Amino acid sequence: MRNFLIFSLRMFRYPGALIGSLILAFFSAVGLGTAILAIQPVLQNVFNSQPGATDQTIRDLPVLATELNARLAKSRLPHWLSDRITIPQGIIDSLPTGAYDTALWIFVGLGVLTILGATSSFLHAYLTQTLVNRILTNLRREAFRRVLKRPLRDVITSGPSDMISRVVNDTGMMSGAMLNVIGKGFAEATKALAAVIVALVVDWRLSVVAVVAGGVIGVIIRQLSRRIKKGSKGALERQSDLYRVATESLQGLRVVKVHTAERAEVGRFHKANKKMLRELNRVRTARSLASPLVEAVAVIALGTLALIAIKAMIDKALDPASFVVSLGALGVAGGALKPLTGVITDIQIGTAAADRLAELLNSVPEPGHGFKLAKMPRHKRSLEFKDVTFSYPNQPRPAVDAITLNIAHGETVAFVGPNGCGKTSLLSLIPRLFDPQIGDILIDGLNIRDFSVRSVRRQIGVVTQETVLFSGTIRQNISYGSTDATEDEIIEAARKARALEFIRRLPQGFDTPVAEQGLSLSGGQRQRLAIARAILRDPAILILDEATSMIDAESESKIGEAISDFSRGRTSLIVAHRLSTVVQADRIVVMDYGKIADIGRHHELLGRCEIYQRLVRTQLVGSELSPT
Ligand SMILES: Nc1ncnc2c1ncn2[C@@H]1O[C@H](COP(=O)(O)OP(=O)(O)OP(=O)(O)O)[C@@H](O)[C@H]1O
Ligand SMILES: [Mg+2]
Repeated sequence: MRNFLIFSLRMFRYPGALIGSLILAFFSAVGLGTAILAIQPVLQNVFNSQPGATDQTIRDLPVLATELNARLAKSRLPHWLSDRITIPQGIIDSLPTGAYDTALWIFVGLGVLTILGATSSFLHAYLTQTLVNRILTNLRREAFRRVLKRPLRDVITSGPSDMISRVVNDTGMMSGAMLNVIGKGFAEATKALAAVIVALVVDWRLSVVAVVAGGVIGVIIRQLSRRIKKGSKGALERQSDLYRVATESLQGLRVVKVHTAERAEVGRFHKANKKMLRELNRVRTARSLASPLVEAVAVIALGTLALIAIKAMIDKALDPASFVVSLGALGVAGGALKPLTGVITDIQIGTAAADRLAELLNSVPEPGHGFKLAKMPRHKRSLEFKDVTFSYPNQPRPAVDAITLNIAHGETVAFVGPNGCGKTSLLSLIPRLFDPQIGDILIDGLNIRDFSVRSVRRQIGVVTQETVLFSGTIRQNISYGSTDATEDEIIEAARKARALEFIRRLPQGFDTPVAEQGLSLSGGQRQRLAIARAILRDPAILILDEATSMIDAESESKIGEAISDFSRGRTSLIVAHRLSTVVQADRIVVMDYGKIADIGRHHELLGRCEIYQRLVRTQLVGSELSPT
């Protein structure tokens, strides 16, 4: 509840719209109350002028106006106010008389009042929606910014879909609740209050019975809605399972089809679907019971009211007009309170969403973004790992285990080792995607933790093991992260990456759109685009994680050329899966179980390192082709 309130306070960022909307809701409620109250004299006149009625006095407009003036004179209202509302005698004299004219004019007045009330009510809804939509949009932006600032390890642990659902779903749910509270909630509550006040003014006895009945109905609805909420929460969770299963099958549709696994996938989907059905069925009793129960209580209350009223009328303690009006007012109050029960459920859902959002917004961002942090000067001497140990969360073994390594500027170092030995993990410590638990990484003798993380990342170009492309054109994908690059620079980068030739052959060249996840390009083409992207940044340090997947010989030799060109004058760390890359390196680091097993050149290692010999025999692509 607390978080929901805190988020709701954001309304005050738009005080004009907020105050306007509340005033309008108030206006429309006052209009409604006045309208109900105005019917009383009309009905009294009607009942009194009926044949057989004992009291033949007709209260027409002049009488009513005089009565109002007398009441104002007696009231405790301040003079400046009561003087202003008091109707001048001149007007009273010119008012039409007679039961019919009185009714006619009161109804004309009611018509005007209704139009004003409806207009206020429209403007109120309009303003609150504007308000809430703005809050929602801002909140989403803020939440998304937060997600991107979170440490990578948090996102890996909780999973991207959880973050997405918080940014998109939870914000939506919360603002929906907010809309209902300040929109429907406030408007209906003021309306109900106005109607109850009118009922009390007209006849308090009936109102007391009604309020008791209303309380009973409230308790029933509360009990039922609690059950409904529990069930709905379960259904929402099941729904996200359903969503996950469906996305997985569709994203892997290639694999599904070639493995003829459609039936199994439908089965998996239906299993989740059935679980959802069970949750939905759990609330059906509560949902079906709500309406009949409430109606029964309402009818009983109405009967009681009628009995009390009849008794009072027989005793001449109540006139029929007051009875009808107070019944009408109570009906209006009941009608206004009904949506309020929905608002209560909405608040509960909104509270859950607000808590999840607050968790996200209050999460600790990744370190290295402080304003006071100095910029790391461009690397030109050395890169050192000093006794670095790093473990993934909840993993028993460190992925990088006490590694010490000195690399000179301009050196090309190849990292080799069996799958899962920690090559990718080690290199992701340099741009601080993760921070080691023990040890430090120094660039030119400076600890990277002491500098702004952006300034460190800016001088690093990374080509990852799985190439990541974004939906957009080829040009946008190359200039990703270097938005101010000129057309010439982009073309030059593509040329250096040996990508220009295939881009030129595409139907729209650099303007060719890349499908989601780059699926419209081959693996080799994708990797060359990623290299062009890294080249464009002109990094001092190049980190390249070679793709493990097979790439055709032509692509491979082109990628090899591109890399050896590009790595000149830069410190290059390359996770190698190809013999050609390894042979060109100044040094080769052999890793095993997170540790360095040996360091040396190709022929040295071939002579003395068993792991390396095995790797060359079994793992490094192109081994058989190249003589050693
Ligand atoms: N996000 C993660 N969470 C937990 N453990 C991880 C995570 N990523 C990698 N690991 C573990 O860390 C170890 C090192 O993984 P890493 O990806 O660094 O290996 P690698 O040498 O790059 O392997 P490959 O040659 O297959 O690319 C592995 O045992 C792996 O299971
Ligand atoms: Mg790897």
